Amino acid sequence: MAKAMLGFAALISMMASMASAASPVTFVFGDSLTEVGNNNYLQYSLAKSNYPWYGIDYNGGQATGRFSNGRTIGDIISVKLGIPPPPAYLSLSPNDDALMEGVNYASGGAGILNDTGLYFIQRFSFDDQINNFNKTKSTIKAKIGEVAANKLCNEAMFFIGIGSNDYVNNFLQPFLADGQQYTHDEFVELLISTLDQQLTKLYQLGARKIVFHGLGPLGCIPSQRVKSRKGECLKRVNEWVMEFNSKVEKLLRTLNNRLPNAKLLLADTYPLVLDLINNPSTYGFKVSNTSCCKVDTSIGGLCLPNSKICRNRTEYVFWDAFHPSDAANAVLAEKFFSGLFSSAPSAAPGPSHQGT
Ligand SMILES: *[C@@H]1O[C@H](CO)[C@@H](O)[C@H](O)[C@H]1NC(C)=O
Ligand SMILES: *[C@@H]1O[C@H](CO)[C@@H](O)[C@H](O)[C@H]1NC(C)=O
Ligand SMILES: *[C@@H]1O[C@H](CO)[C@@H](O)[C@H](O)[C@H]1NC(C)=O
Ligand SMILES: *[C@@H]1O[C@H](CO)[C@@H](O)[C@H](O)[C@H]1NC(C)=O
Repeated sequence: MAKAMLGFAALISMMASMASAASPVTFVFGDSLTEVGNNNYLQYSLAKSNYPWYGIDYNGGQATGRFSNGRTIGDIISVKLGIPPPPAYLSLSPNDDALMEGVNYASGGAGILNDTGLYFIQRFSFDDQINNFNKTKSTIKAKIGEVAANKLCNEAMFFIGIGSNDYVNNFLQPFLADGQQYTHDEFVELLISTLDQQLTKLYQLGARKIVFHGLGPLGCIPSQRVKSRKGECLKRVNEWVMEFNSKVEKLLRTLNNRLPNAKLLLADTYPLVLDLINNPSTYGFKVSNTSCCKVDTSIGGLCLPNSKICRNRTEYVFWDAFHPSDAANAVLAEKFFSGLFSSAPSAAPGPSHQGT
């Protein structure tokens, strides 16, 4: 818990300045935990969630491309900040004025490494997402000029949540090359050096305020538990993830020193998520060791239209074999915020309470 608070004071002032701005612009990068529908536009992508039962608890009960029965954590945090969740990059036309109000580039199956999630055929890797942001930047420059475009980017918030697939859909898959080719020490160095280049490139494109979401306890998600004989968390996987998180934290500190005016922060939600999984009843849940949609396998694991779903979706921490339920996302977003504001109440920007 104490570790989760590191950097929160800086995060609060960043969030507070954002909430006080007339219309804070946010750019979101990531994987299926943050996607809002880009992969729907990729014809051959196998990482899609635009069919029932996805979205059953979302506004209107329709699947949108979110990998959840309802909202993502990002959706809930946007509401708390009083801004609409930024639209999917591919839902906008290339010259859309809306590009200036924030964009979500996230793509299910994506990783830090290009070859992560290759069996999904099509997805935007983090490199692809940065290239797409570069196109957005050029469009904005053409509309308002270089100086104003740089200012817009300098003041915008960049939320990044990536890396889970580099484990779940790469290193931890015994039939893929990376898990055989590298030791974990080598693999985590490869991830961190690649991330260094990627964040530096975003900085060159004008990003200054960057929040990087650390990884959750991946050893405890249903798709990993099924690999243990008794359905327990994979301890070694959790240790690797914690090592990744601490190396990211160190990288962000290095970048803050190397890049003038850069403010990069780690949002380490690992302890919050682990507590929710270990003590589900504390948060009003009944089950955290299996998914509501009964699809616990180590590959696939998405909730298909012919899957059987649980009777009461608010009792489950996990919706499918990889992704938290809407109810869990609500708790995590709430915990994240109350942790944020209880550590410095005077800096609270007074999040709106609409929609909870
Ligand atoms: C990954 O792909 C991107 C875009 O397709 C490319 O720019 C980049 O050089 C590739 N990275 C590596 C390490 O191959
Ligand atoms: C952005 O794209 C342009 C080409 O449109 C390229 O010259 C430039 O190097 C790219 N910037 C970064 C930081 O990748
Ligand atoms: C989940 O935990 C419960 C006990 O809390 C146990 O009865 C059940 O077998 C576990 N399920 C799996 C899939 O491990
Ligand atoms: C579903 O589960 C929640 C949490 O345990 C409980 O509060 C609620 O009453 C349940 N709803 C139904 C319809 O059983």
